[in-house]
Amino acid sequence: MKLGILSVAPNCYSTRRLKQAATERGHKATVLNTLRFAIELEHGEPDLCFRSKHISDYDAVLPRVGASITYFGTAVVRQFEQMDVYTPNTANGITNSRDKLRALQILSRHDLGIPHTTFVRDRADVLPAIERLGGAPVIIKILEGTQGVGVILAESTKVAEAIIETLQSAKQNVLIQRFIKESRGRDIRAFVVGDRVVAAMRRVAQGDEFRSNVHRGGRAERVEVSPEFEETAVRAAQIMGLRVAGVDMLESDSGPLIMEVNSSPGLEGIESATELDVAGAVIDYIATQVAFPELDIRQKLTVSRGYGVAELQMPEGSPLIGQTITDSGLRERDIVVLNLTRGTSVISNPRGSREIEANDRLLCYGKLDAMRDLIPEKRRRKRRVKVQKLDPKLLEDLETQ
Ligand SMILES: Nc1ncnc2c1ncn2[C@@H]1O[C@H](COP(=O)(O)OP(=O)(O)O)[C@@H](O)[C@H]1O
Ligand SMILES: [Mg+2]
Repeated sequence: MKLGILSVAPNCYSTRRLKQAATERGHKATVLNTLRFAIELEHGEPDLCFRSKHISDYDAVLPRVGASITYFGTAVVRQFEQMDVYTPNTANGITNSRDKLRALQILSRHDLGIPHTTFVRDRADVLPAIERLGGAPVIIKILEGTQGVGVILAESTKVAEAIIETLQSAKQNVLIQRFIKESRGRDIRAFVVGDRVVAAMRRVAQGDEFRSNVHRGGRAERVEVSPEFEETAVRAAQIMGLRVAGVDMLESDSGPLIMEVNSSPGLEGIESATELDVAGAVIDYIATQVAFPELDIRQKLTVSRGYGVAELQMPEGSPLIGQTITDSGLRERDIVVLNLTRGTSVISNPRGSREIEANDRLLCYGKLDAMRDLIPEKRRRKRRVKVQKLDPKLLEDLETQ
């Protein structure tokens, strides 16, 4: 395969190892400086120039887009996607995971552990937010920090308020998060490739530091993760839209809690802690995908008019409960069940003989009208918190700034 590694740091460990692993396997790998692309947009012909020349054909690219170039870097990756060049990490996936708030918002609707987190804007909402988290100590995080910079432990509510105020006055958006004390300065970094964890390490903070990042002096050791941690890491990466990811998890009393999902995970720390060929696993995965790429079904299937993909939920009392998929009559209505989610397990291509149970979710492809008819009118979710009425004048002032 012909692989382009998108990186601004050709000499850093990760880039060198990826190139070396590709070459060893008989592939042709070139490091392309992400910032030297020009994105060419013309009717029906998405194209890219590299160093001012039209780029040659690549089978795949592997983006290594750092936080400082997210906007341009993801635009380049998106352009490769338009040109049908395979990338394990999509532009959307990188954007989703880059911002800690966005990532947690997306993860929070799934059955995955995350530390209780809140995001507020108004000063008056800070104290109640801290109280909802169970009070101080709390963790305060800026949204796009990496390597432990911008992650602060506030021992008291007063200190927390002062830090938040200072950061907000410096135009930083901050998250407030429950401090997971029992993790005692340790976390797990699971390196996900495709649908498995190919290597994992536990990082342990040194001295009285609570951040376990290697850049903060954290020591790393190889671990074999339990199936629960493996499943959590793989699902988090998949939900983000990433096939190569470093998933950071805390070991809490209630199981794994995801802190963040990194779309350009470093290789040096994990390869030296585990002595595994992580770069090789990444390259092998990309090579299998290039030979037989996974498609984004939404992009490919909605081309025929009136057809699409939808999720049918089966709340208690739904008429299909207790019937098998064959008896449900879905196929006769031109609806095919692609997979069935039951609790945390996913059954792909469920057989016709499988019985539908209450609270199942059926991912279906078919006639949108027919699927729409099967969904009861949207039931309003009960609000858990009463929203205080805001003065309309105040709102208007805020929005017209
Ligand atoms: N809620 C938390 N409770 C306890 N420790 C935390 C919490 N959040 C982060 N940490 C510690 O701080 C480190 C850095 O946090 P993280 O969110 O991964 O930010 P960064 O992007 O800077 O690595 C983590 O690896 C972990 O050791
Ligand atoms: Mg981290």
